[in-house]
Amino acid sequence: MTATLFTPATLGKLQLKNRVVMAPMTRSRATGNVPNALMEKYYGLRAAAGLIITEGTSPSPNGLGYARIPGLFSSEQVAGWRKVTDAVHGAGGKIFVQLMHTGRVSHPANMSREARILAPSALAAPGEMWTDSSGMQPFPVPTTMSDDDIATTIGEYATACKNAIDAGFDGVELHGANGYLIDQFLNTATNQRTDKWGSGPDTVREAAVREGTPATASPSDGNQLLHRGGSVENRIRFAVEVAKAAAAQIGAERIGMRISPYGVFNGAVPDPKMDALYLRLVEELNAVGLAYIHVVDHSSMGAPEVSPELKAKIRASFKGKYILSGGYDAVRANADLDAQKGDLVAFGRPFISNPDLVTKLQSSAALTPPDMSTFYTPGEKGYTDY
Ligand SMILES: Cc1cc2nc3c(=O)[nH]c(=O)nc-3n(C[C@H](O)[C@H](O)[C@H](O)COP(=O)(O)O)c2cc1C
Repeated sequence: MTATLFTPATLGKLQLKNRVVMAPMTRSRATGNVPNALMEKYYGLRAAAGLIITEGTSPSPNGLGYARIPGLFSSEQVAGWRKVTDAVHGAGGKIFVQLMHTGRVSHPANMSREARILAPSALAAPGEMWTDSSGMQPFPVPTTMSDDDIATTIGEYATACKNAIDAGFDGVELHGANGYLIDQFLNTATNQRTDKWGSGPDTVREAAVREGTPATASPSDGNQLLHRGGSVENRIRFAVEVAKAAAAQIGAERIGMRISPYGVFNGAVPDPKMDALYLRLVEELNAVGLAYIHVVDHSSMGAPEVSPELKAKIRASFKGKYILSGGYDAVRANADLDAQKGDLVAFGRPFISNPDLVTKLQSSAALTPPDMSTFYTPGEKGYTDY
């Protein structure tokens, strides 16, 4: 009997030949932010996956915060990606592009002169990041996004979705995880706005509904309410508006979203409303009709575990497909699929060093370990030579 991982699945209107997903992974080979022949080869070699999700790809010059990451806003980038999607389709695979706007996780030395480093609030990310010209550099303080900036950025996501289809992608994953722009709106560490996009104090109505008190609750509760994580409705608004704009452009059946509840990457912090926030977000994404939700659990990389209860609740309430990820091997993948914890399983690091991962998983062959020192270095070493 074929193990579940290797059985076909549907995703939106697509047929996937198996349930193995190549997880999105930034590899920093896109010199000049344009996909190239090396990337065409890398993705083409991994087309045995049921679905490839590309590395984080920026919808805007303002989202190209890391060195050598690709974009999807210029005609040159669309043409470069077209070669990648042709290679994957030619080898019988399917491919989504992950749209990642880095927001505050950016450095001017990695970006064009006109680019702006934008975030919900003017709070620098902790620590430093790599730049090709000056090595490690502290994160700068981002500019607080105005209403116009927010509208423009949502428009950039929509245009990038249209570009994705022009470039031959089967769909788009919106990166709502790991402390990048969408997550910067979701998280209280990065969003201290008091407007409708903000995590500021709960609205009186929201507090009243939760507490079962009359909607005339005293505004003097403000500080206490802020401490509780602020307005869930406002924090999810950017994620929901981006999803709506993307769906209006290319159809919700071609869109998924990646989320990382309780993630701590890039300075994100948990808060008492996390469960409520993600369950509310899932409801809204149901209303938009997204094809899938992709839940990050980086406990295999040393991050706190996402509670099994929250994962089960998201699974139960989300109507589209559910992609599991984080530290999977074939045995655990099949066990979790058979326990109905998800529909598809993403593999990250194993795909870096095993282009033939699907065959190896199927035959229980030993996996080649990845060389971390070449995860983000330019050139073919550690990229197309495994
Ligand atoms: C080199 C590298 C780059 C990554 N880049 C991204 C990225 O661009 N977008 C994203 O959502 N996750 C990214 N991740 C996280 C992976 O998608 C995945 O969640 C993580 O590696 C855990 O899965 P694994 O245990 O199968 O490797 C990256 C991980 C690695 C190792």
